[in-house]
Amino acid sequence: MSHILTAFNPHSPVTQAMEGLFIVTLWVCAFLFVVVAGGTAYCIFKFRAKPGDDVPPKQIMGYEPIEIIWTVVPALIVVLLLVLTYRVMGVEYPPTNQQPDITITGHQWWWEAQYPSGIITAGEFHIPVGKRMLLRLKSADVLHAFWVPELARMMNTVPGEPKDIWLEADKPGVYQGYCGEFCGDQHAHMFFKIYADSPADFAKWQQQQLKPAPQPTTPEEIKGAQLFSDMTCITCHAIKGFPTAMALKAGFSDASAEVAPNLTHLASRHTLASGVLTNNRANLTRWLTDPQKIKPGCYMPDFKLKPEQVKELVDYFETLK
Ligand code: CUA
Repeated sequence: MSHILTAFNPHSPVTQAMEGLFIVTLWVCAFLFVVVAGGTAYCIFKFRAKPGDDVPPKQIMGYEPIEIIWTVVPALIVVLLLVLTYRVMGVEYPPTNQQPDITITGHQWWWEAQYPSGIITAGEFHIPVGKRMLLRLKSADVLHAFWVPELARMMNTVPGEPKDIWLEADKPGVYQGYCGEFCGDQHAHMFFKIYADSPADFAKWQQQQLKPAPQPTTPEEIKGAQLFSDMTCITCHAIKGFPTAMALKAGFSDASAEVAPNLTHLASRHTLASGVLTNNRANLTRWLTDPQKIKPGCYMPDFKLKPEQVKELVDYFETLK
């Protein structure tokens, strides 16, 4: 899977404003560098000691016009950059006390989204294209940083202190997201994707995600669902619509734990394990066989499942469209 950072391909008003500010700052600094370094090089060459120069050159202390110029010009440059930065901050900062459109929580080592409609999903988040979405960022454990270089500013998720940012995409597509703050073993494997959908596609996605999971029907699927509660997957993972009788048998009233990614529509996602694996039968089998081999240190233990148990679980998980 390719994870190329593209901060120079802004697709939202916030990232466009940030890129604009960066480019102006870069040109101002490049100009200053050329003037200062060029002037220094010129003077070194022009006023270097020549053969026979054994008297020190005339010493001059203070030259008012120059002093004024090199005080006023840098001050004006700082004021210019301050004004431009202040304008970008106006675009960047959302108003306070507004209800979020999505709440995103960083976990070791995956991302979760909760929508006001009740949708809970992991790793892949959908937004309608062209709509400014207010994100509320939270952390379930340590500092993480939510970062989609093309769509939004990077923002830390701080335990106990939610932060709001804007997220918007001006073009339909899939945008890669990262964790931008070191957060432990699997920090580098904490990817997510933002899907910017047309309003019709977004409505369709929402409708589909709001449905409970389908009931297992074939004997293998039923065995898989049974394993999901017997092997204690149910202790950490939620599946909305999970057969109540099976949950009760394992001592739970339903499958609604929020410790690990919500699996209600697992099969509708393109990736597994926080964007590390493409979601297909072979990879799901590898993941369930030994998650620690793929993401060492992650909180999904190796349950030493037998191959036929893995197969039954995969059969069941593949129904979770
Ligand atoms: Cu989460 Cu780095």
